[in-house]
Amino acid sequence: MAQFTLPRHSKIKPGKKYDAANGAKRTKTFKIYRWDPDDAENPRMDVYTIDLDKCGPMVLDALIKIKNEVDGSLTFRRSCREGICGSCAMNIDGRNTLACTKAIDDVGGDVKITPLPHMNVVKDLVPDLNPVYAQYQAIEPWMKTDSAAPTKERLQSADDANKLNGEDGHGPAACILCFCCSTSCPSYWWNSDRFFGPAILLQAYRWIVDSRDEATGERLDQLEDPFRLYRCHTIMNCTNACPKGLNPARAIAEIKKKMVERQ
Ligand code: SF4
Ligand code: SF4
Ligand code: FES
Repeated sequence: MAQFTLPRHSKIKPGKKYDAANGAKRTKTFKIYRWDPDDAENPRMDVYTIDLDKCGPMVLDALIKIKNEVDGSLTFRRSCREGICGSCAMNIDGRNTLACTKAIDDVGGDVKITPLPHMNVVKDLVPDLNPVYAQYQAIEPWMKTDSAAPTKERLQSADDANKLNGEDGHGPAACILCFCCSTSCPSYWWNSDRFFGPAILLQAYRWIVDSRDEATGERLDQLEDPFRLYRCHTIMNCTNACPKGLNPARAIAEIKKKMVERQ
């Protein structure tokens, strides 16, 4: 019979426990994934109970409070604190989302926080984004033109701009590259070395439908591949996961449609 061995770091152990300060009346407990590449230990779940009356309303507020007041070694990414930069993407209460736009009160019971799934972990809640950025680079996410540069900006009609921005502001240009979608996609979990995943395909679509770009055929050629594009099986997890309300699954379907139309 086949014998399987789990990777050494796959077992998550119980971790340290930190109680709220004396006198706290309204408390919440956060169970947070911890892993430090500089020691030989397995990952653990540390448990922090904090005073909500001395904390902002969002999960990111709690993480910052814990880091500032309880445990300075807790490591996570954040920048804008308003859902714009995509840095604070993580799995909260079983869903990939942005810590800065997720209200603590929206989570009933303890708040369990782990890194975005199916990515290597750099430390604690910080995933290694190098592979997905290499895929982003592969789609050449910049305007490509052969025609002579205009003396002013390249103009675009309102209808063409809407293809990027969406009439409701939820077009592909609104993507913040948080990768909540790609790390929710089962196809990406198992084929992330070859399948581009919803975030990168949404970005590819953003350039394919840009009326100012002159490399549409080349961009479609690059995606005409059994893995890069066609590993999407329309499971729709990506669209359900997007914290910005975007629809990468539809963008992928539109790319597939363009592939058929040009045959
Ligand atoms: S629709 Fe495609 S990209 Fe989105 S989750 Fe499903 S398989 Fe992944
Ligand atoms: S489509 Fe949504 S979930 Fe995916 S990377 Fe863009 S903003 Fe994040
Ligand atoms: S900190 Fe920028 S999106 Fe959350």
